[in-house]
Amino acid sequence: MNPKEQPIIGESPAFLTVLEEVSRAASLHRPVLIVGERGTGKEVVAERLHFLSTRWEGPLVRVNCAAISESLLESELFGHEAGAFTDAARQHKGRFEQADGGSLFLDELPSTSMAVQEKILRIIEYGQFERLGSSRAVEVDVRIIGASNVDLPALAEEGKFRADLLDRLAFDVITLPPLRERQEDILPLAEHFAMRMSRELGRELFAGFAPKAVDALHRHAWPGNVRELKNTVERAVYRLEGEDEPILDLQFDPFDSPYRPGLVSRPMASPEQPASPAPDRPINLRRHLDQEERRLAMAALERSRGHQGKAARSLGLTYDQFRGILRKHDLIGKHTDQS
Ligand SMILES: Nc1ncnc2c1ncn2[C@@H]1O[C@H](COP(=O)(O)OP(=O)(O)O)[C@@H](O)[C@H]1O
Ligand SMILES: [Mg+2]
Repeated sequence: MNPKEQPIIGESPAFLTVLEEVSRAASLHRPVLIVGERGTGKEVVAERLHFLSTRWEGPLVRVNCAAISESLLESELFGHEAGAFTDAARQHKGRFEQADGGSLFLDELPSTSMAVQEKILRIIEYGQFERLGSSRAVEVDVRIIGASNVDLPALAEEGKFRADLLDRLAFDVITLPPLRERQEDILPLAEHFAMRMSRELGRELFAGFAPKAVDALHRHAWPGNVRELKNTVERAVYRLEGEDEPILDLQFDPFDSPYRPGLVSRPMASPEQPASPAPDRPINLRRHLDQEERRLAMAALERSRGHQGKAARSLGLTYDQFRGILRKHDLIGKHTDQS
């Protein structure tokens, strides 16, 4: 392993398949797209891809496209000449030039503007671009590794992401499964993070997780995936009183407190979503929730006039998750425009 690389933990069948895909894709000089929910390890996988490739001695440059404003992103990526705009006192080499001979990790790709997407497309096609304020083409040899936690085909369908760029980026798509689909990875990851945290705290020993805590780790749904697991475990380790004490309890929500302020302004209690009162008679919770799911899916479709991508997003779901719900309630074709 390259000393600069962080270790990758995982032994579930779903994760091993991903690692195989990464090894296979590494040697090609083609763009790769890594998709998956937040915290599933997209950046770790991008790193592995770089270090397994023939470019491993070259630079690995990372850019989070969502962290830079739309107007700055273009000059950040492609650089600019002196005087290209008011604040441009000197020439600036962009991230593409910095990544020459190596890989460029473009995180949160959907945050890029159409103009930036067009320039990225040109780099993929011709290996060329121009700095801002210049008409001279600069050539680079960069492998693009893109990442997204939203469904790019749905965005392209709505005209919010260039379909031609997506086609080029999607030569190879690596999809990271959420942690809840990788039960076998939970404990090895938890132990890895716990031991690292113990070492960081200068402790000699980590006494492990008590059975009750192991159980809780497996029962939690991990909406924030590996990042959430890491934070939860690190918090538990640093709260331990003594080195020889095992972890008994886990606090999944760090905001959890009887004194938590502002309950009324929390989204769940907003006027559109009044909190349901406790049932005053026995109900079948599963059936009730199923009916509610069906009702909300139909309402979302109605509002989006049958556009499934929009309906999915209005419910905070991916296109595939939403399709799953439609299938489950046998709603496909009845209320949708088959798009
Ligand atoms: N398989 C893994 N093994 C070890 N650490 C991991 C693994 N997957 C994710 N992590 C850690 O979890 C955190 C979130 O991973 P990251 O790659 O940033 O997720 P994403 O980019 O998908 O949001 C990071 O601290 C990363 O080091
Ligand atoms: Mg990330």
